[in-house]
Parts: sequence; structure tokens; C-alpha cells
Amino acid sequence: MFSRIAGRYDLMNGLMTFGMHNSWRRAAARETIPSPGGPGLDLATGTGDLALELGRVHPYRTIVGADFAHGMLTIAEEKRRPEDSGGRIRLVEADALSLPFEARTFAFVTSAFLLRNLADLRQGLAEMRRVSRPGGRVVALEITQADLPGWAPLIRAYFHHVVPRVGALVGGDREAYTYLPQSVDRFLTPPGLCALMEGVGLRGVKCRRLGFGTVTIHTGSA
Ligand SMILES: C[S@@+](CC[C@H](N)C(=O)[O-])C[C@H]1O[C@@H](n2cnc3c(N)ncnc32)[C@H](O)[C@@H]1O
Repeated sequence: MFSRIAGRYDLMNGLMTFGMHNSWRRAAARETIPSPGGPGLDLATGTGDLALELGRVHPYRTIVGADFAHGMLTIAEEKRRPEDSGGRIRLVEADALSLPFEARTFAFVTSAFLLRNLADLRQGLAEMRRVSRPGGRVVALEITQADLPGWAPLIRAYFHHVVPRVGALVGGDREAYTYLPQSVDRFLTPPGLCALMEGVGLRGVKCRRLGFGTVTIHTGSA
């Protein structure tokens, strides 16, 4: 599905979020600043926006962007070339549930809009922790059900009725953009996800809601 929508993915993100999506990724990237030395991993990097942002926040580190959808990585590669003159941003095809990296390889591990798509969420979080160095930050930006009184029903209606139509018209894929609000409905609340992060051994777990509560940055340390 993600390879299918790759060509219009960035355009759809801009439209659906009224241009706010990159500020959320910037906030997530800044959460990695207090990390030990070493390379960083952006898991499920998709078209690479968070990996590129991490490259700006950490100008002297190598950043690996990993994803299992070849079509998404092809777009990430096109965006990486003009920006990454030092060749510090590497792109790798990999499954988040079985990462091809040694334990304790990365100084931090991020993911944006991955977790609600995983077949085995606990395994995905355990992999994020496994490949993180002791003290390294694990940061997960995810769409969450809005909790602002008064706004929540409006936002829900927007997700369920407007997003699939825009997805059909602009993204050319109604199914993918119908799946999106359904996956948000099925997903854990921020406290539920924080509890699961603690359950895989992450410490100091916190969550910060942004965008009227429609997205949350979850952080912890390995
Ligand atoms: C909604 S996109 C998010 C992309 C990017 N992180 C962003 O900020 O826009 C979800 C991404 O997760 C990837 N993905 C989903 N399940 C995965 C898995 N098990 N292993 C690796 N990538 C996965 C998809 O291929 C897709 O690129």
C-alpha cells in the first residue's frame, strides 16, 4: 500500500495536515538531542522527511533511514541526493519487526507514523530498544485520537469523511486514506502506548500532544 501511494504521499501530507506535518517532525527530531555519541536510525523513514530533519539537527552524525517499502525509499533517495552532500544519510530496505542491525548500534531511534501500522507493536518497540545504545533516545511520533473537548468530534469527522475523499481525488487511492482513520481508531491512546514502551524496558517514558491532540510524540530512553 505504501509503495502504491509513494508518488503523492508528500503532497497528501501537506494537504491533510494544513502544512503542519514538518513542524511535528522537527519537534520529534529535537527530542533526540540528548543522546550518546553514534549514528541515528529513522525507522519507517518513508519518503525521508524525518531522516533529512535529523541530518539537519545532527550535522556530524550518520543517519540511517530504514523502510520496507521500496517505492517510498525511491522518493527518499531523490530528496536525499541534493541535500546530503556529505553522504551521511543512508537508506536501507528493512522490516521494523526484524531489524538487520546489531544490538546497541544507534545513539537514537525515531519513527514517525509507523507504530499504528505494525502487525506486532510490542515486537516493533522491542526492536527499537534492542538497537539503541544505553541512554539513547527512542522517539515515536504517531497520529492519536484528538482529546480536545468540543474539537474531537469535528476532527474525527474530518478524518473519516474528508481525508478519504481528498485521498481519492488527489492521492488517487481512496482505500489507503480510508485505512488511515480506521488505523487511528484501532490504535492505543498515548498513555497506553507509553505503558507498552515501559513494558519493553524503556525508561523515563513521556508523551507530548501536538496539533490539537491529533499527534503525540512519545519518548523514552534505552
Ligand atoms: C505513514 S508512513 C510514514 C513515513 C515517514 N516516517 C513520515 O514521517 O512520513 C508509514 C511508513 O511505515 C513503513 N512501514 C510500515 N510497516 C513497516 C515495517 N514493518 N517495516 C518497515 N517499514 C514499515 C511504510 O512502508 C511507510 O513508509
